[in-house]
Amino acid sequence: GPSLDELARAGGRRFGAVVGGGAPGTLTGSFADPALRALLVAECGLLVSENEMKWAALRPAPDRYDFAAADRQVAFADENGLGFRGHTLLWHHPQWFPAWAATHDFGPHPATAVESMLTDHVAKVAGRYKRKIVSWDVVNEAVDADTGAMRETPFSRHIPAEQVLDIAFHKAREVLPRGQLVYNDYMSWEPGHENHRAGVLRLLEGFRKRGTPVDALGIQSHIGTANTDSSTGFGDYHEAEWRRFVDVAVGMGYDIIITEFDVHDKGLPADIPSRDRAVADYARAYLDLMLSYPQLTDIVTWGMSDRYSWLQNLWLRPDRLPKRPTPYDADFKPKPLRDAIAAALRGA
Ligand code: G3I
Repeated sequence: GPSLDELARAGGRRFGAVVGGGAPGTLTGSFADPALRALLVAECGLLVSENEMKWAALRPAPDRYDFAAADRQVAFADENGLGFRGHTLLWHHPQWFPAWAATHDFGPHPATAVESMLTDHVAKVAGRYKRKIVSWDVVNEAVDADTGAMRETPFSRHIPAEQVLDIAFHKAREVLPRGQLVYNDYMSWEPGHENHRAGVLRLLEGFRKRGTPVDALGIQSHIGTANTDSSTGFGDYHEAEWRRFVDVAVGMGYDIIITEFDVHDKGLPADIPSRDRAVADYARAYLDLMLSYPQLTDIVTWGMSDRYSWLQNLWLRPDRLPKRPTPYDADFKPKPLRDAIAAALRGA
């Protein structure tokens, strides 16, 4: 049958998946597995680096770049006719920024030094891949998920937070005049994320008011459970509120992308057939809703096989069983989630 990307293309979209995910700067994680790479080639039209294009991977020291791992991934995609999304030119949350950034001395003119460190990064990284990477998560997760305010970061100590983002987007536009420039975040449809959604909409509105060149909102779509200890996990979502959120974003002229799709099954029963069924049904409802927007350009999963999902190490199930959040199981067999994605794409 047709691949997920072929089905997506029939609707004018692309389907893709994350690759890599090992320790920053290495080619470990899923990229090291030939069976997984073959699956990516079979199903995808698009790849994205899990960790290999983050600052922690590309900039081991303030004045040193290391492109080896990222280059190999982009070359692999290119050799196999796959497109690539860049992730990410700026994720300056202190927890994910390179350790050196916290104590870096920006000298007597810190605002100027921050600006040139950031524009140098965007120019070198986006410039290096400008013929291969046409869509970039220019900025990732800049809004505080609890309050909806802008996060304070090593850069925002010297330049107001929104302005830091504007600098990154303007430089990215200069380097990629026709590239898709994306603001990417995880505001979800579950209760408890109202402040996050409101904060992201304020940010998007600010971009428009200031003329910041942002083309799309990346909706990560780590769905399936609120990031809480809820033992049920599923089902308690506000479809109408989510629609209102997406309506406002597209109403401002933004395209949308599902950038990091997976389905957390923490709260579901151990029995595999019923667990996989519940995951697939939940995903189908979400994807049908998202595919009802013509502004949705791509669907990208954060893991093609359960073997390599980032979720395996976090928020463990009470029974400690491996989670089943992706379209293929740990032995690369398709699951009901794969069929649900295919069915949603066919219906679109
Ligand atoms: O592999 C090393 C291991 O050798 C070392 O001992 C250990 C000690 O910290 O670290 C391991 O590296 C970890 C790496 O994942 C590989 O497992 C890093 O610490 C850890 O920070 C890293 O987590 C990644 C996380 O982003 C932070 O960069 C996840 O793989 C990755 O899936 C996750 O992806 C994010 C997106 O970028 C943004 N949206 C949310 C999404 C999920 O959190």
